[in-house]
Amino acid sequence: MRSPGSTHAPGRDWIVGVSAPAQPAISPDLVIAVDDVTVTRSPTHLIRNITWQVELDERWVVLGPNGAGKTTLLNLASARLYPSRGTVHVLGERLGRVDVHELRTRIGLSSAALADRIPPDETVRDVVVTASWSVVGRFRESYDPMDEARAGALLEQLGMAALADRRYGTLSEGERKRTQIARALMTDPELLLLDEPAAGLDLGAREDLVRRLGELAQDPDAPAMVLVTHHVEEIPPGFTHALLLREGSVVAQGLLRDTMTPENLSKTFGLPLRVSHKKGRFTARAA
Ligand SMILES: Nc1ncnc2c1ncn2[C@@H]1O[C@H](COP(=O)(O)OP(=O)(O)O)[C@@H](O)[C@H]1O
Ligand SMILES: [Mg+2]
Repeated sequence: MRSPGSTHAPGRDWIVGVSAPAQPAISPDLVIAVDDVTVTRSPTHLIRNITWQVELDERWVVLGPNGAGKTTLLNLASARLYPSRGTVHVLGERLGRVDVHELRTRIGLSSAALADRIPPDETVRDVVVTASWSVVGRFRESYDPMDEARAGALLEQLGMAALADRRYGTLSEGERKRTQIARALMTDPELLLLDEPAAGLDLGAREDLVRRLGELAQDPDAPAMVLVTHHVEEIPPGFTHALLLREGSVVAQGLLRDTMTPENLSKTFGLPLRVSHKKGRFTARAA
């Protein structure tokens, strides 16, 4: 994956006479490269010695109990947090050596922290279209017609077209989640990060969302995806890989079908579990 002798970042033409930063090139297929990363908030480590790579065509689920470090890992991947030790590359750029504001425009993120900032009186359409300017809250009279059209198409794709003129604050939890995902996709990101997208949904809304995310995961034109959850039932069909976390450390990672074993999941959640897998969906219960 790496060519240690090279000082050339992929896809970059360095100006002659200006020396390139001394860092190894990262394969253009690597969307996320986390190398021996620890994040410390004294006196504890939120995550510890994590090495993890996500490639272009992969769809990862990050699974673990509350407090395992899932959101911390996603905050690194979304360029919202720096490692205390180790290195993180996102979309070929090394955190700490890149303008994160520019990098963040290439990443779609849906999280509770972002959702909390959405004004309740904003229309659904505006929640989505304002992502093209990295703001929440409409601040312009008009947006580019192309942006308006894209927002409309994404709302259609997520089953929200009929509610486009509704105020965000009047939506059900499931409708809010679908709006947040449409917003995350608005900038046509190269990487889509979803932190507990099904949290707080009732069964019907959860199944609807899992189905839509499964369709997205199976779309070859969709960006690389990382979905964080603590419920195996929320893993959409079409996801390819899993990273299992417990107390800030990796329990197991790799292809989904190889990683989601009863042994690994029991270790991750700290109790003996039975796991079954049918038609691309998982269920788990105490053994
Ligand atoms: N800024 C912080 N300072 C101290 N501890 C934190 C901070 N952020 C998170 N933590 C702690 O780090 C651990 C991992 O948090 P988090 O990544 O949010 O876990 P998860 O998303 O898996 O529930 C938790 O125990 C949490 O309380
Ligand atoms: Mg979390």
